[in-house]
Amino acid sequence: HKIETLLCRGVKTQHTAAAAQMKTVNKVKHDEKEKEGGKSLYDVQVERQQQAERSVLISCPSRTNKERFLKHLLKYGDIKTHFFYESIGVYAVVEFSSKEGVASILERASIPSVSHESMVPFKSRVLSLRNLDKISNQQSSIQLQPQSSASTNELIQRLSREKSFDQQITSLAESYQLTEENTRLRFLVCSLLKDVAAPFFPECTIKPFGSSVNGFGKMGCDLDMFLDLDGISGRKVKQPKLGLSLEYQMKMVNTERRVTQSILSVIGECLIQFGPGCEGVQKILNARCPLVRFNHQPSGLQCDLTANNRVAMKSTELLHLYSELDPRVRQLVFTVRCWARTHGITSKIPGAWITNFSLTMMVLFFLQKRSPPIIPTLDQLRDLADPEDKCNIEGNDCTFVSIPSKIQLKGNTETMENLLGEFFEFYGTFSYTNMSINIRKGKEQNKPEVSPLHIQNPFEISLNVAKNVNASQLERFVSLCRESAWLLQHAHDKSPSSLSGSGGPQPWGLATLLQPSQIAAIKRRTRTSQGPVRQTLKSWVESLK
Ligand code: GTP
Ligand code: MG
Repeated sequence: HKIETLLCRGVKTQHTAAAAQMKTVNKVKHDEKEKEGGKSLYDVQVERQQQAERSVLISCPSRTNKERFLKHLLKYGDIKTHFFYESIGVYAVVEFSSKEGVASILERASIPSVSHESMVPFKSRVLSLRNLDKISNQQSSIQLQPQSSASTNELIQRLSREKSFDQQITSLAESYQLTEENTRLRFLVCSLLKDVAAPFFPECTIKPFGSSVNGFGKMGCDLDMFLDLDGISGRKVKQPKLGLSLEYQMKMVNTERRVTQSILSVIGECLIQFGPGCEGVQKILNARCPLVRFNHQPSGLQCDLTANNRVAMKSTELLHLYSELDPRVRQLVFTVRCWARTHGITSKIPGAWITNFSLTMMVLFFLQKRSPPIIPTLDQLRDLADPEDKCNIEGNDCTFVSIPSKIQLKGNTETMENLLGEFFEFYGTFSYTNMSINIRKGKEQNKPEVSPLHIQNPFEISLNVAKNVNASQLERFVSLCRESAWLLQHAHDKSPSSLSGSGGPQPWGLATLLQPSQIAAIKRRTRTSQGPVRQTLKSWVESLK
């Protein structure tokens, strides 16, 4: 009880000098956003980075006694929060109230003495708890926080118990989205990686981007990271017009790309040679966007580290903004991503299939095309931008408004059931041969090139986000859209509350849509037992036959 009281004391956040300085610069913008109620991705990142810097990751014996563990850690400093999870073994994330707690641990932790192996003496914030008592530890009282989402079967069961279609959609998003603990873990991994890069680049930051922070992340998604060197102080120091001045002597190479490759090569090598728990490190430096890929075993996260990838950071910001505008945006993206994954339309392995990023673009485009539109076009967001939102990256206009409350929505009130059905119809009949999907204009445009699926990159407008997709993958997507549209129209032959033969709830509504084998079976049943289907859908079924 005493420990819990101590834990709840809640010492106020102590900002580092650098963070405080950064905050002052952005104070006006920040205060404005605080008043607006919504937090920008920038604010979220700063707050999460500070949390992560006050945190350590500790591998614990599986039968660790929680009270005893916390009592021990309180010797180093007040604890703000903590949680346990299972990766390869049990781990604890402990956030101290101030960075002194971390410093105190690092000062007092011992270096392991090993007899058969030699260790690389690189110190990090990944530690191990050792129980040196002769007697084994008492009963474990640890509650483990899940770090992966439910299986498709569990999800189907869960959805089948819901009472309405819209509740099913909400429930799907709730069970797939990243938890608070998983988000903390992602920022902590970025912060641990920053410790590796900091001896070379003390002013760098490592930020997560992509689905870890854009509002559409599913438990278990990869961790995309961006090594940001834009904040290096000397870049902004103005040379005097007259007199003497000093500048750094630096190595010169011929392109930005070469700089990125050198930096990533060195950091990749550090991870290979020194990084505790960094396994399977691959330096993929000749890719269009050079990266270092590795598995971070303590967190169980698959990581991609990039550098100089500002456009991707900007598209993350844009997706985050869209995700905050209307709850239906996240719900539809989650539902479509989950549906696509279940039916093998998307895959974790890179290939000729549609990526989650492309799918998200397709959902956004569809929502822009509703009448009235649910979300604005990118051009409309650009027109609402303030002067400080202006952004040009390597000649690409990346300007859009950053304050969500400046955006007036048009009062669309469609239900999720309707939207999902319409989504499938829309992409079941889209004119892929001639048209390109374009979220900047919110209107299909003539296709500038011959690839089967064309989705204009919102910021680098000469690029096609779906360039990798081949004709047969697109065909699979289109037929599944048609089948799912058909199925949704005939989903009413099952009621929410009936029981299946095994005694569990009978899959219905959205749950039926996630059952791969059910589509054909239900279609057969309905074809014999129901009246005529709508003419367009009927012809699709004929073609499928
Ligand atoms: P999952 O990892 O599949 O959950 O989704 P994700 O959105 O994180 O996608 P991914 O890891 O493939 O890519 C990370 C981020 O890189 C995306 O969110 C985009 O911001 C950016 N990105 C990915 N693919 C493309 C692309 O083809 N073009 C552009 N411009 N950006 C991309
Ligand atoms: Mg990703």
